[in-house]
Amino acid sequence: APMPTAAPHGPVAMPVPEGGAPVEQTVIEPPEAQQPAAGQPQPGAPADAAGQQTTEAPEGQDTPDGQQPAAAAPDHPGEPTTPAPEPTADATTGDPAVTADVQETPEPAAADVSDQPGAPAEPMAEEQPVTVHIPAQAAGEQIAAQAVAAAPGEQPATAGLTPDSGPAAEAPADEAPHQQDAAELVQLGEDQDDDQPQPAEAPEAADAPAASDVPVPSPAAGYDDSERAAVHRVMRERRDIRNGFRSDPIPNEVLLRVLEAAHTAPSVGHSQPWDFVVIRSAETREKMHQLAMQQREAYAKSLPKARAKQFRELKIEAILETPVNIVVTADSTRGGRHTLGRHTQPQMAPYSSALAVENLWLAARAEGLGVGWVSFFDEREMVRELGLPEHLEVVAYLCVGYVDEFPEEPELLQAGWSKRRPLSWVVHEETYGRRALPGESPHDLLQETLQGIRPLDAKALGEAWERQKRMTKPAGALGMLEIISAQLCGLSRKCPPPIPEPAAVAIFAGDHGVHAQGVTPWPQEVTGQMVANFLGGGAVCNAFANQVGAEVCVVDVGVAGELPATPGLLPRKVRAGTADFTAGPAMTQEDVLKAIEVGIETARDLVAAGNKALLTGEMGIANTTTSAALIAVYTGVDPVEVTGRGTGINDETHARKVDVVRRALELHQPDPADPIGVLTAIGGLEHAALVGLILGGASLRTPVILDGVSAGAAALVARAIAPEALAACIAGHRSAEPGHVAALNKLGLRPLVDLDLRLGEGTGALLALPVVQSAARAMHEVATFDSAGVTEKS
Ligand SMILES: Cc1cc2nc3c(=O)[nH]c(=O)nc-3n(C[C@H](O)[C@H](O)[C@H](O)COP(=O)(O)O)c2cc1C
Repeated sequence: APMPTAAPHGPVAMPVPEGGAPVEQTVIEPPEAQQPAAGQPQPGAPADAAGQQTTEAPEGQDTPDGQQPAAAAPDHPGEPTTPAPEPTADATTGDPAVTADVQETPEPAAADVSDQPGAPAEPMAEEQPVTVHIPAQAAGEQIAAQAVAAAPGEQPATAGLTPDSGPAAEAPADEAPHQQDAAELVQLGEDQDDDQPQPAEAPEAADAPAASDVPVPSPAAGYDDSERAAVHRVMRERRDIRNGFRSDPIPNEVLLRVLEAAHTAPSVGHSQPWDFVVIRSAETREKMHQLAMQQREAYAKSLPKARAKQFRELKIEAILETPVNIVVTADSTRGGRHTLGRHTQPQMAPYSSALAVENLWLAARAEGLGVGWVSFFDEREMVRELGLPEHLEVVAYLCVGYVDEFPEEPELLQAGWSKRRPLSWVVHEETYGRRALPGESPHDLLQETLQGIRPLDAKALGEAWERQKRMTKPAGALGMLEIISAQLCGLSRKCPPPIPEPAAVAIFAGDHGVHAQGVTPWPQEVTGQMVANFLGGGAVCNAFANQVGAEVCVVDVGVAGELPATPGLLPRKVRAGTADFTAGPAMTQEDVLKAIEVGIETARDLVAAGNKALLTGEMGIANTTTSAALIAVYTGVDPVEVTGRGTGINDETHARKVDVVRRALELHQPDPADPIGVLTAIGGLEHAALVGLILGGASLRTPVILDGVSAGAAALVARAIAPEALAACIAGHRSAEPGHVAALNKLGLRPLVDLDLRLGEGTGALLALPVVQSAARAMHEVATFDSAGVTEKS
């Protein structure tokens, strides 16, 4: 429901779920859909890696145990802390000389090339259709209600969520071997470094001349194991450093080696467009520090409150603490007018200089030198201040010096600012979207996501209840918040759970062909106009997001009109609106799957960017009609009961809207056990994307705060696809739309806020965010009876 209206209709008599109302049980066993589909790669290595994650990561860290340890265990433990003022003799690992290794290269065999380690995986015969298996009871009443659905008015007691009866009880953490959240998959990526195919040892000619004496030349040799390990080690252990610099001077010969490494970088047309300005003077560094501070301030002002709070704790430069600063420039005129390769892509000059930076960075690491890249500069201002020739571009400003230590992980990761994206998210086989690591079969994003969705963790849930009993308050006194905090513990597998901050609301925008049926007085172009309003910061969601410190992320998944590129808008249009579902299917199955993927990818991006809660939002003129149809399918309630007045329509329009929903159901006879089919027939692009966001959030064990009726409809579909996805869901509010009540009852979710809102845009979810955050914070900060010396009730 896009716009508020001046004339609110009377408050909807809202039947609050009766005690224990939605008595479905929370799903425990992974349903069929959770199993890797036939032909899908069994997550061998990933499962192993993830399966070992039975212990929680240390508090404050989102990374699991077992992270690549300071494999860091440096060869010379003292080395990092002891600056080496003199060049050491062993800094010669880069010696490319290859000698005896060649002898060891196996003779090419006349075997089938496809079996060779270096050969690409056998491509799948054809695109695997996504088959989402719905267990017979998935949409039915036997499916366990989410235990968080405590009946209002009841003691929030532990009835539904106790370790004995709760949803997680059935699945202890260590029975979840396929859990694949970002951090765990990272482990996989890193582990596999060691298993990279070795071109020097393995490549073999496809057609070795059979029984011929013609010698087949051996391929060029790679490095031996230890040399290769050193190369990988330096890449793995390179860090951007801002803290812990020492004032020890850098000997000239050391700096020279580092600059030589930079100067060997590849460059477009061999133009070598870089210059290195080595700055040591305190005066210049002071000037640059001032410039960076101004930009830091400007950036901080642009951030959502929760992010700004996090940012205040971060150090982003070490200009004054380092003895040497190096400015790396790019000269796009170098190499002359006809520089090979720069003709069509002028940006290749600064790219080349960036490669020099990476070389410098790696060589510095090998010397025990820390490097911090500072990009908080107005580029032209910097050129002027440094007195650089105007035709130069500044590519990097680097702070260089000896350091106390090299952290094992990026400082931003340690600070919870971001997470590492797993390699498996970003490697595509042949075409974009066919994700596969070398040697694996391409997998489908939806199937991969489903495999990562697990129930709440029983151990953390049990700890949550125990802790709540010991907190200095009467048992159950925090009502629904106790249930929410236990859910957050079970979801994160940590007690106390991470405070869900920062958070982002993802607003998916799409248009609806059914608009043609006159189901709303608002013209369709309002969808695009409101998107512009969100991006301009002028909508209600922006005001609420500002208030609660959340980020607003706007996604065009299916707006009918073209939207201009604007900062903050994710252009992910699957198609320009759906078709009129009273006349035929709303869209194709392919569209549905693409829109779901948009939602999954959005969840991944927002979580990898450090968000610890996802909020659903949506914008689409006529989308309450679509939501009503979906809810009618999944609740079995008559369309007249679940079709509301959306933006505020008169009786005549309402009657038409009910009729439209009824006709759509008659035409398509949607089968709730086929959720993709349901979305294809009567869904919306933003609904499908919301389904993806919910599934994506659940697979990343990140809470998803649902907004109103469209989110409720999407949650019903998501549950039909993966029942455990509900373990991540929190109903933010209860909308004034009657369909929403039906959906919440069916889902067994109790809304946190109930203020007759019927706006959409994520507004209800945003209002609920502080409630959810408070629930988690209480677990962290409230003293226990023992710690506070408070006597317990006798
Ligand atoms: C182009 C570029 C610009 C960067 N600018 C900054 C910066 O201004 N301030 C900062 O603290 N880190 C900066 N960084 C460092 C990144 O935050 C860092 O590389 C990232 O968090 C990963 O950490 P790692 O380098 O230790 O692996 C920059 C990195 C790159 C590649």
